[in-house]
Amino acid sequence: MQLPKARVKIKGMDVGRKEKAMRFTTERLVLRPWEEADAESLFAYASDPEVGPIAGWPPHQSVEESRSVIRNVLQAPQCYAICEKGNDVAIGAIELKLCGHTDMTERSDACELGYWLGKPFWGRGYMPEAAAALMRYAFQTLGMETIWCGYYDGNSKSKRVQEKLGFQHHHTCAETPVPLMHETRVGHVNVLTKAQWRESSCNAAKDA
Ligand SMILES: CC(C)(COP(=O)(O)OP(=O)(O)OC[C@H]1O[C@@H](n2cnc3c(N)ncnc32)[C@H](O)[C@@H]1OP(=O)(O)O)[C@@H](O)C(=O)NCCC(=O)NCCS
Repeated sequence: MQLPKARVKIKGMDVGRKEKAMRFTTERLVLRPWEEADAESLFAYASDPEVGPIAGWPPHQSVEESRSVIRNVLQAPQCYAICEKGNDVAIGAIELKLCGHTDMTERSDACELGYWLGKPFWGRGYMPEAAAALMRYAFQTLGMETIWCGYYDGNSKSKRVQEKLGFQHHHTCAETPVPLMHETRVGHVNVLTKAQWRESSCNAAKDA
């Protein structure tokens, strides 16, 4: 993940400035900005070798590394900690990677969706629930026309999340660079337009 410091303006809205104020509540989850106090819970879940590598980043080695990631990576304009409602512990991350933060688009009305969740919480439908809320915000408030989302070959769990959200296959790249892992992989790229999202039942996210 890259971290340009520049603020991003979309249709006159300073998305960077809105970041700190934003908080989303769904049926079971709260999405809120990352704080340095999340370093220990981030380390607990991001040190698991089943979480980062499949998404393209190495497991965290120390709480200090996790704190540094919070400072330098997870402060991106539309990056949120995922917490269970009633419990402020960060159990995963979700981000709309805006123009300048993703190599999937150079358009200001398009972004990339990225996410991961701590392993103890897999299989409860949390990520589709979190993503549905953030995608609604992207289309309805940030003025997005297109959301891109990808996964590396073999990541059937992430593929399934994207199917549940209504994404459509766009292309497959045989040699996708995975810089943090110093390798290339087969990468599948999916897309969802605002028109497709409007037609999809997925836009009926269960917001509280
Ligand atoms: C991908 C990920 C975010 C899915 O989140 P989630 O909240 O568990 O998503 P869902 O509950 O909708 O489960 C999606 C699919 O994962 C699979 N799955 C769920 N729990 C699982 C488990 N414990 N072990 C193996 N597979 C599991 C199932 O196929 C499920 O589909 P189904 O609901 O049709 O059975 C999560 O697995 C994760 O963080 N993985 C590691 C990081 C990663 O891959 N990030 C995405 C990079 S593109």
